[in-house]
Amino acid sequence: MSWTRRHVLSLSDFTPTEYDTVLQTANSFQEVLSRRTKKVPTLQGQVVTNLFFEPSTRTRSSFELAAKRLSADILNFAPGSSSLSKGETILDTAKTYLAMGTDMMVIRHKEAGVPQAIATEMDRLGVRVGVLNAGDGQHEHPSQALLDLFTLCNVMDPEQPHLSLLKDKKIAIVGDILHSRVARSNIWSLTASGAEVHLAGPPTLLPMLFSDFVKPEDSGAKSEEPTVYSPVRKLFLHWTLAPALQNADFIMTLRLQKERMTNYLLPSLREYHQQFGITRDRLALCKPDVKVLHPGPVNRGVEISSDLMDDPQFSLISQQVTSGVAVRMALLYLMGGGKG
Ligand code: NCD
Repeated sequence: MSWTRRHVLSLSDFTPTEYDTVLQTANSFQEVLSRRTKKVPTLQGQVVTNLFFEPSTRTRSSFELAAKRLSADILNFAPGSSSLSKGETILDTAKTYLAMGTDMMVIRHKEAGVPQAIATEMDRLGVRVGVLNAGDGQHEHPSQALLDLFTLCNVMDPEQPHLSLLKDKKIAIVGDILHSRVARSNIWSLTASGAEVHLAGPPTLLPMLFSDFVKPEDSGAKSEEPTVYSPVRKLFLHWTLAPALQNADFIMTLRLQKERMTNYLLPSLREYHQQFGITRDRLALCKPDVKVLHPGPVNRGVEISSDLMDDPQFSLISQQVTSGVAVRMALLYLMGGGKG
């Protein structure tokens, strides 16, 4: 098992070995979490600080529980009741926690690049503090993509989840790609696995993510469909849902991030649901054993129909939340030196 990364800020440069190391380690922690005593002494004496400058339910609690299961001491920072309101800068807040002996910082911020800036400052100071990006603006959310990856691989092989299980699988990512840091991180991990990744959403919410995207007419493909794809990464773009769902093995739905929408990007939620909502009827297009994911929080009845969301035959949503703790334990353990 090899791990040299002090910070986890993005998946853009993750190697297949690193993905497999996270999957294997998370699998061992999943086993720990199924025991009667769900705690290991691995990070005893270490301090993990949650610096969440943006609201969060599952990610913050999941990191907190992961740190506690590893026996670390955890500090939770809440911006509303902090010295930020007295004019302190984010870097000074981070340095305050550093002075208290923090070993790892888990950072969420509405601006892209804040975790990177804090990691750079920690490196400049020459301190061995690991920084984990828990979601920065519209940029990345690596721990969410890693828990999604673990959930997918675990369905296929619960004994030995590994990256190459996803090779040639078809995965549809549906919804508000434009604002989604979850999609941006997932694109790195899923394309690295050799899966075919199909992004689908209304044109206003579907950005051209890479410069090597090719329009079908440029590539000589004959299609009425406004499908655009990147041949290098097996990544496809669709402005309608059906071609993305056709024979899909997995569907990842994304929340419509209304808080980040500044323009009139959607006619109405009802119309969105009619065109892009995942419903039981639409699953008929996919493989018979298709599974549906959502990072949460869900706008019930908008991205996914309410009954489907609660149907354990198709929905992996609660497994995602459960896997999240094991995957975050794995990340904290590996970043903390992987000892014990
Ligand atoms: C996501 C996030 O915050 O980016 N949620 C999460 O971490 N579980 C997705 C979202 O907010 O829609």
